[in-house]
Amino acid sequence: MSKQILVTGGTGYIGSHTVVELQQEGYDVVVVDNLSNSNIEVLDNIAKITGKKPQFEQFDLADRAKTEAFFEKYPNVEAIIHFAASKAVGESVEKPLLYYRNNLVSLMNLMDCMGKYDVKNFVFSSSCTVYGQPEKLPVTEATPRQDAESPYGNTKKVCEDIMSDTMKANTGLKSIALRYFNPIGAHESALIGELPNGVPNNLVPFITQTAAGLRDELKVFGDDYNTPDGSCMRDFINVVDLAKAHVVAIERLLNDKNKENYEIFNLGTGNGSSVLELINAFEKSTGVKLNYSIVGRRAGDIEKIWAETSYANNELGWKAEKGLEETLLSAWNWEKKVRGIK
Ligand code: NAD
Ligand code: WQD
Repeated sequence: MSKQILVTGGTGYIGSHTVVELQQEGYDVVVVDNLSNSNIEVLDNIAKITGKKPQFEQFDLADRAKTEAFFEKYPNVEAIIHFAASKAVGESVEKPLLYYRNNLVSLMNLMDCMGKYDVKNFVFSSSCTVYGQPEKLPVTEATPRQDAESPYGNTKKVCEDIMSDTMKANTGLKSIALRYFNPIGAHESALIGELPNGVPNNLVPFITQTAAGLRDELKVFGDDYNTPDGSCMRDFINVVDLAKAHVVAIERLLNDKNKENYEIFNLGTGNGSSVLELINAFEKSTGVKLNYSIVGRRAGDIEKIWAETSYANNELGWKAEKGLEETLLSAWNWEKKVRGIK
């Protein structure tokens, strides 16, 4: 019988790509999502790619009674991948309590249920945001975390601490925190991808929406940073590569290959690319000219960050494989599909 995995936030951007990879590897997936930042149609599109629609339960994981009722109904869940969270940095500054309640309470409810319903394995979506602006690049998993720039960023730090303390107290449980760098792109089928609500905050959706004519121009936030071309640098990682790392992390836990019962891995490519390089790569791979202008810095932005990936590469036997141009083309193909552009 195939192993059953609970994917929270499985209709969201990274979750949906991970459901595809899990199903393609033969796992039986149950998605929980409250659809606060995603659409139910995603399930049909997952089915178009994989030939199978995952089971689905719609509820809020911050609701303890509903979360317990879920585990009563699904006693065979062997592992949890926890994507569900609120993730808009700016909104978290306006509504900190919403972010702390949603992100922390959901995690605590799930961790309680692991003990109560004997689910031993847990994978969590953390973020390179926990490093702030590191003094030394690239960042390893041992690079010290810094004070968060936003309530959202702080939820990731506190969630990591909750996991770490819970694992110390419950040595029969196992968990992995994956620190994502900047996930971009879409599935090659263009059937699933990133669909932000309203005006995108993140760079790549803003680029593709500008190219599609939904936005007049992209504003590049600053060209006076201490980087080769003056724009900020990030480690942009293809979302399908990222999704595959979750399958590997789950297998590590299910097969007892983990070395500690709480482990942390960076998920990036190891390469820093600047905002201007990304724009050039987009134009080159898609043949679309992008309207953009340079404006002042965005408050709270860090100058540059990219991952040291050797620990994840060696320990997990996983490596990001897709290049920037291929990834940006996938983002554009998805945007065209969504907007009905030929
Ligand atoms: P997303 O918003 O597309 O997906 C999150 C999903 O969780 C959504 O479908 C939303 O409806 C659901 N959700 C939120 N709160 C819920 C709750 N209380 N109960 C049930 N469902 C709930 O976001 P994403 O980009 O796919 O991110 C997934 C995870 O990865 C998040 O934890 C995010 O913080 C983390 N992360 C994302 C990035 C990024 O740049 N996208 C980078 C680092 C970490
Ligand atoms: C990338 C670069 C911008 C938009 C955020 C969160 C972080 C993580 C990933 C979850 C920056 C520049 C952007 C635009 C621009 N999420 N930019 N014009 O800031 O690295 O990280 O998402 O954990 O926590 O903070 O990603 O895509 O917003 O920006 O010039 O219209 O693009 O200044 O240098 P960021 P981003």
